[in-house]
Amino acid sequence: MEEEKVKSKECNMEQKLNEMNSVEKVIEETVTSGLHAMVLALGYKVGIIDAFGRLNKPSTAKEISEEAGLNLRYVQEWLTCMTAKGIIKLEKEKFSLPCSERVQKAVLTSAMLPLFCDCLPKLETVMRVKDTNTGYSFPQKDLEWLGKFNEINAFDHDWIHNNLEPVFEKHFKDTQDNITDILDFGCGYGKLCQQLAQIYPDINITGTDIDEGSIQHCRNTYSYPNLFFTHTKHGTPLQKNKFDIIILHEVLHDLPDPERVLSELKTILKPNGYIVTFDPDVSSDVSKNVDNEAAKTHLPYSVFFCLPNSMSESPAIGHGAGWGVEDRRKFIEQCGFTIVNVDETHVDSMVSRIVFKEKTS
Ligand SMILES: C[S@@+](CC[C@H](N)C(=O)[O-])C[C@H]1O[C@@H](n2cnc3c(N)ncnc32)[C@H](O)[C@@H]1O
Repeated sequence: MEEEKVKSKECNMEQKLNEMNSVEKVIEETVTSGLHAMVLALGYKVGIIDAFGRLNKPSTAKEISEEAGLNLRYVQEWLTCMTAKGIIKLEKEKFSLPCSERVQKAVLTSAMLPLFCDCLPKLETVMRVKDTNTGYSFPQKDLEWLGKFNEINAFDHDWIHNNLEPVFEKHFKDTQDNITDILDFGCGYGKLCQQLAQIYPDINITGTDIDEGSIQHCRNTYSYPNLFFTHTKHGTPLQKNKFDIIILHEVLHDLPDPERVLSELKTILKPNGYIVTFDPDVSSDVSKNVDNEAAKTHLPYSVFFCLPNSMSESPAIGHGAGWGVEDRRKFIEQCGFTIVNVDETHVDSMVSRIVFKEKTS
């Protein structure tokens, strides 16, 4: 008996030691990778990554520095650093970087780091305001980055087929109404609107955003007869009972006053219309988010952008991407909506989609 007790105590201690070692390892690896990610971001910013793309073959440091128009010595040091990390391959004094979509995506993600740095002073200031929630709106540069990221990564035909088509089909099955008008609320740089306008030429697609620069970009970039963009400063001064479907993609958790926005959206939604929200697939139970890919991917952006935006004006509710799906569903129902069940088999695994309509008594 005594022997068993000692054994179990030893086991517990070993387990604790292993856990501690693994946390230490995670911290160390995160920090080292972060430093390398910053160096990668620098390479993107000064044009080394683009130079690799244009050269399109293994090249010497001199060729790369000439192509990028940069000082050779700095380029050599950058290449040495990235080669040591295994990001750049070196063979016979020539360096190469694969140009795959995954590489492009990762490099573009690293370009977020300097934007985090730009935000640090503002974030430090608002974090020190202890008694009230204060924040700031999405910086234009962040929205521009998201626009570029979406251009290569988001809203292709498959995405629309998997995430939105089942909603449109359910809407038709329930109402027998043809969809004539869709609103993308908080459309950002407009890629989803453009794709919808192209795929559904008989449906009017409207994109709105509080950010004037985003709407200007959309107007300058996309042109389809069924595509419209509107800048909405506060609220939604659009025609009443107009939309069959209103989409909020990665928007609800960013809003400082989601209750007001949802009540305004109710007035512009047709009586049978559906609202569809997509937000990170994060649980309200924080312990369930350990190793959750959606939480790990979205939360860093939330600390710097989503949460401060949701505290940028009164009532500064402060949801952010950490607002779990269970609480979001409750909130939506409390705002006077009924959740509609739509087949979720193919929904993007990083987000949770909630479809809802106005509650009828
Ligand atoms: C994370 S971005 C998502 C953009 C786009 N839907 C996407 O998925 O790429 C959030 C967007 O919501 C917009 N936004 C934030 N608050 C808003 C409000 N009160 N009314 C309309 N748009 C808002 C921001 O300007 C930004 O474009």
